[in-house]
Order: sequence, then C-alpha cells, then structure tokens
Amino acid sequence: MNMQVNPFTDEVDWNFDVQSAGLLFGLPDIGDSKVKVFHNDTFIQKVTNTYRFDKEHLKAVLTFLFAENHGDGLLLYGPFGCGKTSFIREVLGRLHWPTLMLSWNETSDTADLIGKTGISFGDTTFDPGPLTLAAKKGHVLVVNEIDRGRAGNLVALNDLLDGGKLVIKETGEVITPHPNFRLVCTANSAGSGDLTGAYTGSVRKLDPAFLDRFAMLEVGYMTLESEMDLMLTQFPEYLEASGHFVERMCKFASETRAKAADAAELLSTPLSTRALVRFFHYGRAMNLVSKITGNAQDLPEIMPVLEFCYLNRLSPEEREVARVALNMTFGN
Ligand SMILES: Nc1ncnc2c1ncn2[C@@H]1O[C@H](COP(=O)(O)OP(=O)(O)O)[C@@H](O)[C@H]1O
Ligand SMILES: [Mg+2]
Repeated sequence: MNMQVNPFTDEVDWNFDVQSAGLLFGLPDIGDSKVKVFHNDTFIQKVTNTYRFDKEHLKAVLTFLFAENHGDGLLLYGPFGCGKTSFIREVLGRLHWPTLMLSWNETSDTADLIGKTGISFGDTTFDPGPLTLAAKKGHVLVVNEIDRGRAGNLVALNDLLDGGKLVIKETGEVITPHPNFRLVCTANSAGSGDLTGAYTGSVRKLDPAFLDRFAMLEVGYMTLESEMDLMLTQFPEYLEASGHFVERMCKFASETRAKAADAAELLSTPLSTRALVRFFHYGRAMNLVSKITGNAQDLPEIMPVLEFCYLNRLSPEEREVARVALNMTFGN
C-alpha cells in the first residue's frame, strides 16, 4: 500500500552533523568556524551552487539562527533584487533547517499567518497557517516584504516575538514555540517607509514597537567585483566573446544604483542583481553573445535585450538617463 506521508505530523529529525562553515558556504576565509547541519529532509529550501555569500552578513545570520532565541525576529532590509530572499533561502537550505516562506502584501491578514476555519463534511475544521506550523514544529518562518502590507495585520507575530505563546482563538490551542522556531522577515526599508522615492505608494512605515522586536541586518547590492565574479561564473560564454562586456554591464548596473540613491537624479529604479541576471540570461537566448565586442558598437545589440529586461519599466525621462549612462559606460 502506498501511504501518504504528511510531513506536518512527522517529527523533524533534529539530529545533526557538524560541518565546516567555510566549505558549506564557499567562504574559505571565514576561519575554522563550524555549523550544525540537521539530518532533517522535510521543507528544505532549494539551494544553487552559484550563490555568493557575504562573510559579514553570513556571520550575522548564523549568530541569529544558532543563538538561543529570546523572542527576537531578524529583519533583512535593503533595495529590491539585491539578494535578501535568496540569501536567507540559501543559508537555511544548506543547514537543512525546515523553512516556510510567504510574501506579505496588501491583502495579507492575520489568518494568512495563523490559519483559517473551514467546513468539512459538516464539521468545522481548522487549517493551520504557516506561523502556527512553524512555531509548533521548529521551522523558520520567512515573511518576505513585510512593508508591502498592513502593519496592523502583523500583530499576530508580536506575542511570539515577545517570547510568549501563540493562542489559536479558533481552537483554544495554546502553542509554546519550539526552541528551533525562528522568524525572519525581509523589507525594502528599515521600517521608516520609503526613503528614496523609488517605492512610492508600495512601501509602508512599520510600527516602531513591532520593529523593536527585531535584530536588523542591512543587505545592499553586491560590490562591483563580486557581482562581476558572479555573472562570469553563471555566464562564462560572455567572457569568451569579450573581455570587457560583463564588466561594463556590471558597471552600468552600479551606475544606475548610484543614480537611484541620489535624490537629485531622475532615475529612481536601478538595475538590480535580479534584473542583471535576467539580462545575461535572455541575452544568451537572444544570441547576444555572438554579437558583442565589449565596445560602443554593442549598443544597438544590447538595447532590445535591456529594454525587455529593464528599460521598459522606466518612464521616458528615466529611460533617457539610463541610456546616457549606458552610452558613457560603453565609451560613447
Ligand atoms: N549573492 C548572490 N549570489 C547569487 N545570486 C544572487 C545574489 N544576490 C542576488 N542574486 C540573484 O538575484 C536574484 C534576486 O534576488 P532576491 O533574493 O530575490 O532579491 P530580494 O529578495 O532582495 O528582492 C536571485 O534570484 C539571484 O539570481
Ligand atoms: Mg525578496
């Protein structure tokens, strides 16, 4: 007989091996630190072998995860597409720490965290939400973009963040959080709402009392060197075609970020790491690699790919600023 296994009713296997952090995260210069890797094989986040970890960020996150939890959450904040979500996913996946992830938005409410009642064959049932399950089982709950929705609807997290218990009103159940339960959130601002104007209308101010319950880690765009290195690892064929092309595209990306951070500039949407990956990816599919030289004559070839991946999102004025920056980068 083929038995359906429900991982939520199974206990997580918390036995662990101790492994070298340097090897696990591809950072040989992190010293001889060791981390626990759980035997658990349920709810593991998918990892890639191309992810680049920042040593200081990694140390901070590991400290948060492995320190005894006193009811703090961790907030990763920074501009869109810089690698916040993928960072926490890649860390937790390597540690085999069971993880539930969701995105917070305008319509999210408390029931999306705690769970909902329903009817099954005339009986009232309770369908537990990710917070309930994570607290019970010792998963990490990752709530992405908490500044995209109504802050008031996040209050369900407060009781747990205070080191308290989670009371499920619908069932009367009282859940004492598992010692391995952790809460990690991501946001575009440090909770103050929009600082640059880039997220007008979409980023909300977070409640200071809520934020007071978080350790905060700022994640920014990668340095030019790391980003070039990452793109060349993922798309080595561009290097074969031209020694300069990837470097110039990465420089263009960092130029758009500098402009977006500068209130005096018209450009408010930078070319993110996510969009840059997309550019090289579609460039490959659109046969850009066979046409590039790394010089100004590449511009007509670049434009259709860049429009598709980035420029079409911009206003005509912003697009002009980006176009001038691109021309300058390619020496025109
Ligand atoms: N350090 C990194 N190493 C490898 N890829 C990265 C890195 N940072 C960002 N990326 C790429 O950028 C994409 C977007 O990152 P994501 O984590 O979704 O950004 P955010 O959550 O900050 O909006 C990832 O899917 C990945 O392709
Ligand atoms: Mg994200």
